[in-house]
Amino acid sequence: MIHFDIFTLFPQMFGGPFGESILHRAQSKGLLSIALHNIRDYTTDRHHVCDDTPYGGGGGMIMKPEPIVRAVETVLVQPAGWRLDPADVYVNLPTWSGEVPTPLPADTPIILLTPQGRPFTQAVAAELSTHARLALLCGRYEGVDERVRTGLATDEISIGDYVLSGGELAAMVIVDAVTRLLPGALGDKLGAYQDSHSPGLGGLLEGPHYTKPPLFRDQAVPAVLLGGHHAQMTRWRHEGALLRTLARRPDLLHTLHLSEKDKTFLHQHGWRPEAND
Ligand code: ADE
Repeated sequence: MIHFDIFTLFPQMFGGPFGESILHRAQSKGLLSIALHNIRDYTTDRHHVCDDTPYGGGGGMIMKPEPIVRAVETVLVQPAGWRLDPADVYVNLPTWSGEVPTPLPADTPIILLTPQGRPFTQAVAAELSTHARLALLCGRYEGVDERVRTGLATDEISIGDYVLSGGELAAMVIVDAVTRLLPGALGDKLGAYQDSHSPGLGGLLEGPHYTKPPLFRDQAVPAVLLGGHHAQMTRWRHEGALLRTLARRPDLLHTLHLSEKDKTFLHQHGWRPEAND
């Protein structure tokens, strides 16, 4: 069981992905729960302002620290699953100190989604899946006030070297990748263990997959898969994973543990580990 508290100015963005397929099923099965918290609910000024112009000029708007910090410090001292009562939004917020930090549970990572964060990988997803509760902070506009990073966030994650309009899509990516790793979230027994980048494949990309029909247009399913010889099929799959990784992500081969047999096979197919890729 894992619980995500997601802090955002746009909670409605999450309805689609969280209401479908694996994420929906994982919530129904009680493996996953998600509480969306609207940062704006934690403003107390008349216009519910969450952003302001940057000191020193420059373009864009910066998210103010108080609403985010107030939201996170209010929610994380409550049990997982707690939400602000809609009747209390703006007008009846739990007391909070703007002066001194509220002590928060040390075992709940507070993750700021930002293109400046550490890269999100399958290994990071596995690491996050060991926590019972996680907080995801979705920035918007040009960024968040630096004091959110220095005084509140305990981690910063980027889902890739590109800039999104906000952290919401990144938060959805993280919830999805972590959920696949929860025992019982996927239909089959091996679950995510044999996915690309995962331990069952030694970190390789998955090779090709086929289903019926055996002949589609002029392309036949490889004979080895129809033959029923299990050792041969396993070897064929493994070699398919090696070849696919060599063709598409040779950089991954540098860090993986490869057997002598795998290295010989890769050499025969043109692998030159000393070359820059
Ligand atoms: N917010 C904007 N761009 C992002 C990215 N690449 N990863 C995580 N959060 C982001």
